[in-house]
Amino acid sequence: MGFKYVEYNLSNADIPSSIQQKSISAIQNCMECHSLDEHDSVRAPSLAKVLGAKLGSTDYQHNSDSLRNDERIWTRELLSDFLVAPETVIPGTTMPSSNLNDPLVVDAIVSALDGLKNDVSIPPAERER
Ligand code: HEC
Repeated sequence: MGFKYVEYNLSNADIPSSIQQKSISAIQNCMECHSLDEHDSVRAPSLAKVLGAKLGSTDYQHNSDSLRNDERIWTRELLSDFLVAPETVIPGTTMPSSNLNDPLVVDAIVSALDGLKNDVSIPPAERER
């Protein structure tokens, strides 16, 4: 379950199709570094189970001390703020800004990542990568 799921989720989300498209391509950019496979935190932390987890708690080997030592839990709100301005929310993070300035796109990305963790309502075929 990975990008194909996210694409399916966003294509069926109750948001304007322009926002669907922007959100899908924004997540494509994330995947230059990140994986949606929970066991792949090689190049950057896996995004499979972000919401509800402690910050910096994957087995990614190169976390900044700022992220690793932050005791907060990823909520929707914190993740949204982080995606808009990583360095403002976690000074010293090595996560680059993705220049996400449309709140609808940010919200759609956060929902898709939330769904990736929880959603059991989609057809099995759509869950495969
Ligand atoms: C150029 C590479 C790159 C891109 C593109 C990128 N990230 Fe990251 N991201 C990182 C790195 C590296 C870290 C680890 C930061 C640290 O340790 O301070 C990170 C950290 C994170 C974290 C915190 C994970 C944790 O374990 O707490 C989240 C969530 C995240 N990124 C989401 C995203 C999303 C969503 C996108 C796309 C909108 C994105 N990233 C785009 C490199 C990237």
